[in-house]
Amino acid sequence: MLSYQHHYHVGNHADVLKHWILLECVRYLQRKNKPFEYIDSHAGAGLYDLDDDKTQKLKEFESGFSKLLAEAPEQFKSFIDVILPFWQARQYPGSPALVDSQMRESDRSWLFELHPQTFAELEKHCARHKRVFVRKQSGFEGLLSLLPSQLKRALILIDPAYEINSDYQTVVDVIAKGYQTMPSATFLLWYPVVNRDTIDALEQRFVNTNVRNVQQFELNICADTEAKGMTGSGMIVINPPYTLAQLANENLPLLTSILKEDTGANFKVREIIPE
Ligand SMILES: C[S@@+](CC[C@H](N)C(=O)[O-])C[C@H]1O[C@@H](n2cnc3c(N)ncnc32)[C@H](O)[C@@H]1O
Repeated sequence: MLSYQHHYHVGNHADVLKHWILLECVRYLQRKNKPFEYIDSHAGAGLYDLDDDKTQKLKEFESGFSKLLAEAPEQFKSFIDVILPFWQARQYPGSPALVDSQMRESDRSWLFELHPQTFAELEKHCARHKRVFVRKQSGFEGLLSLLPSQLKRALILIDPAYEINSDYQTVVDVIAKGYQTMPSATFLLWYPVVNRDTIDALEQRFVNTNVRNVQQFELNICADTEAKGMTGSGMIVINPPYTLAQLANENLPLLTSILKEDTGANFKVREIIPE
C-alpha cells in the first residue's frame, strides 16, 4: 500500500537540489545533437498545483524554491528561469514536467508511477506528446526493461520515497543491473538524509558493486540529527557530466547558505568511486 504523495513536499530544499542537478544533466546531454531517452522510475504527479490542499498543508516550497527565488542569484538564473513560468501560474514542475519543458522532438521520456491517483494526474499532465510514455508499473522493473536504451543515450532518475526500507538495497541492485546492461547511461539516485548510518551504508553498497564513476552531491539544511526528520538530501550520480562536480563546488556553497536552517548546514561533493 503506497501512502507517500509528493504533493506535500513540492518545491522543498530536496526538490531544489534534485531538480537543479537533473536540469544540468539534461542540458549537458543536449549539448550534442543526438537524442536521448529520459527514464523517470518514480515520476510522481508530474506537475503540482501550489494551491492544492495537500501542498498548502505544509507549504514546504516556502523554505525551498521561494527562498531561492527571493535571492535570485545570477548562478541560478537559468534554473529559476525554467521554474518561473510554472510558478507564475501557481504551479511547480515535478521531474517529468521539468524535463519535458526542455525536450527536443527527438528526445523521449518514460515515466513510471504506481500510486493510482498520482498516476492519473501524471497521465493528465504529461501524456500529451508522442515522445512521452507513461506507465503504471514499478519503475524498478520498468527502467531495467528499457536498457540498453534504443536511442543509445539515457538519463535515468530514480527517486523513491523510501517507504519500504528495502528500497535502500533495491536501488543499488537495480542500478548495478542497469549499469551492466548499459554502462554508458547516467543514473541519478536521490536519497533523503534522515539517519546518517543509513546513507553511509548506501554509499558502501555501491563500493561493493562493479559500478564505476560514482559521485555524490549532498545539501543539508542543518546538522545531522534524527530529531527533525529529513535534514538534507543528496544525489548519487553514476556517469555524471564531467562538468558537474566543478559546477556543484562553485554553486552549492551559495545554495546551502540560501536554504540553510541553522549554522550546521553543509554540502558535500565527493567521488565515491572513480572512473
Ligand atoms: C518522491 S516521489 C517522485 C517525485 C518526482 N520524481 C519529482 O521529482 O517530481 C516518489 C513517487 O514514487 C511513487 N512510487 C513508489 N513506489 C514506486 C515504484 N515501485 N514504481 C514507481 N513509482 C513508485 C510514489 O507513488 C511517488 O509518487
